[in-house]
Amino acid sequence: MHQQNIEQDLLEESRQGEVLSYHAQTESNRKYYIESYGCQMNFSDSEIVASILAQEGMSSTKELSEAQLILLNTCSIREKAEETIRKRLKEFEHLKKKNHKLTIGVLGCMAERLKNKFLEEEKLVDLVVGPDSYRDLPRLIGQTDEGDKAVNVFLSREETYADINPIRLDSNGVTAFISIMRGCDNMCSFCVVPFTRGRERSRDAMSVLAEARDLFDRGFREVTLLGQNVDSYKWQNPNSGEWILFANLLEMVAQIDPRLRVRFSTSHPKDITDQVIQTMANYPNICKYIHLPVQSGNSRVLKLMNRTYDREWYMDRVNTIYRLMPDCAISSDIIAGFCTETEDEHKETISMMLWANYSMSYMFFYSERPGTPAAKKLIDDVPIEIKKERLNEIIRIQNQISYKHNMADVGKTFEVLIEGNSKKSEHDFKGRNSQNKMIVFPKKGNYKAGDYVQVLVQSASSATLTGIIMD
Ligand code: SAH
Ligand code: SF4
Ligand code: F3S
Repeated sequence: MHQQNIEQDLLEESRQGEVLSYHAQTESNRKYYIESYGCQMNFSDSEIVASILAQEGMSSTKELSEAQLILLNTCSIREKAEETIRKRLKEFEHLKKKNHKLTIGVLGCMAERLKNKFLEEEKLVDLVVGPDSYRDLPRLIGQTDEGDKAVNVFLSREETYADINPIRLDSNGVTAFISIMRGCDNMCSFCVVPFTRGRERSRDAMSVLAEARDLFDRGFREVTLLGQNVDSYKWQNPNSGEWILFANLLEMVAQIDPRLRVRFSTSHPKDITDQVIQTMANYPNICKYIHLPVQSGNSRVLKLMNRTYDREWYMDRVNTIYRLMPDCAISSDIIAGFCTETEDEHKETISMMLWANYSMSYMFFYSERPGTPAAKKLIDDVPIEIKKERLNEIIRIQNQISYKHNMADVGKTFEVLIEGNSKKSEHDFKGRNSQNKMIVFPKKGNYKAGDYVQVLVQSASSATLTGIIMD
C-alpha cells in the first residue's frame, strides 16, 4: 500500500508538482527566479510572465541566491498543492533575512484564492498577483521597490494575453504549449479553478495560428492546445462574423504543415463533439490521444460533482472515439472518495476504468476546497483511510491496465517524434508516439531531436516502452 502511495506521489509530482526554473535571455542588472507548480496552464502562464519581465529588461536566474525577485506560480487544486507552496516559502526565510531588498511574489491560483490574506498569513510575501493581472507586474514590482506590499487579483472577462509572445522556458525546441482559452464556466462542485481563474474566454484564433506557425518555423514539431475545457472554445472573427469552434481551430492548426503534430488538453466529456473526433480522425498529424477525465464511474456521484454527464453518456463518447479511431488512446482523471461515495459506487469507477481501457490516469483522493459548491453544500464524509484505500485500489488497477495497454504495443512499429536524450542515458533518445506513449530507443545514424523516426517496440513496462529505430 505504501508503495502505491509513493507511486501516486510520483504521478502527482510529475503533473502538479514539477518545478520549472528558467533563464530569459535579456541582459539587466535585475535578476529574478521563478518556479511553476500545478497544471500546464500555469507553466504556460510563466512563459507569458517571462515575456512581460523581459520587456522590462529583467533577466532570470536559476540561482536563488542571485535573485532580487523570487516568484512562485502557484496551484490550489488540492490541499497538498497549497501545503507544498507554504513549505517552499519557508525555505526562503533565510534568504530574506540575508537580503532585506529581496522581493518575494506569489502568482497564480493560490494568489487568486487567498488574495490579501496571503500577506497576513505569510509575512515574507511582498507581492500577490492573480492569473489575469500579469501585465500589471512591472507596476506592482515598482510598488514593492518603494517598500510597499502589492496585490492585484482582478479577474478579467477579456484578458487572453493574445498579443504576448511567450518566452519558451526550459524548452526542448521540439514541443510547446499554446494557451487557447482561459478560465472555466463549468462549476464542477469539487473544483476551485472557476474561482481562481475566472470566467471562460477564448483567445483570438488568428493569434493562435500565428503562434503555431511561428513555432513551426523555428523548428518546433508539436504543439499542445491548452484550456480547462477546450471543447467549449468559441471565437468570432470580427471581420467575417464567422464563428470558429474547437473542431475548426484544430483543423486550421493541423493544416499549417503535416509535419506539425497537434495535441490538446483538456476535453470535457459533456462537450467533446463528433465533429472534433471526426476532425482528429481526418488528420494524421492530429495525435490519436484524448485526455477525457471521467472523475467517477457512477452516475449519482457524477451528478453530485455537477459534471453534467452520466455513466452512459461517458460510455457513448468513448465508444464514438474508438469507433472513429480504433488506434486512439484515452486517459483519465479520477477522484476517489468524493462526498457520500459508497463502496459500490467506487466499484463502478473501477469497472469504468477497465471498460474504457485507459492508457494512463491521474488519480487523486478528494480534497475539499474552501468556497467550492461541494464545500458549501455537501459533507466530506468519506474517512481519509477509506479515501486512501480506494485510491490505492484505483492506482493498482490502473497500473495493471497500463501494463496490458503497453504490452499490446510490443511488436508494433510507431512513428515517433524525437524529443531529446532519454533521462537515463545520453546514448538513448526519448520521444512519443501519436498515442502519447513515451518510447526510449538507442540513437542511430544522424537522427536528432525534432526528427520523426519509425520505432519498433520490443518491450514494455506500465510506464514506458522501449524499442529500436527501423529504417
Ligand atoms: N479542467 C480539467 C481538470 C483540471 S483540474 C477537467 O475538467 O478535467 C485536474 C484534475 O484535478 C481534475 O480533473 C480532478 O480529477 C482533480 N481535482 C480537481 N479538484 C479536486 C479536488 N478538490 N480534490 C481532488 N482532486 C481534484
Ligand atoms: Fe474544474 Fe470542472 Fe472546470 Fe475542469 S471543467 S477546471 S474540473 S470546474
Ligand atoms: Fe492548479 Fe490553477 Fe491549474 S488550481 S491545476 S494551477 S488552474
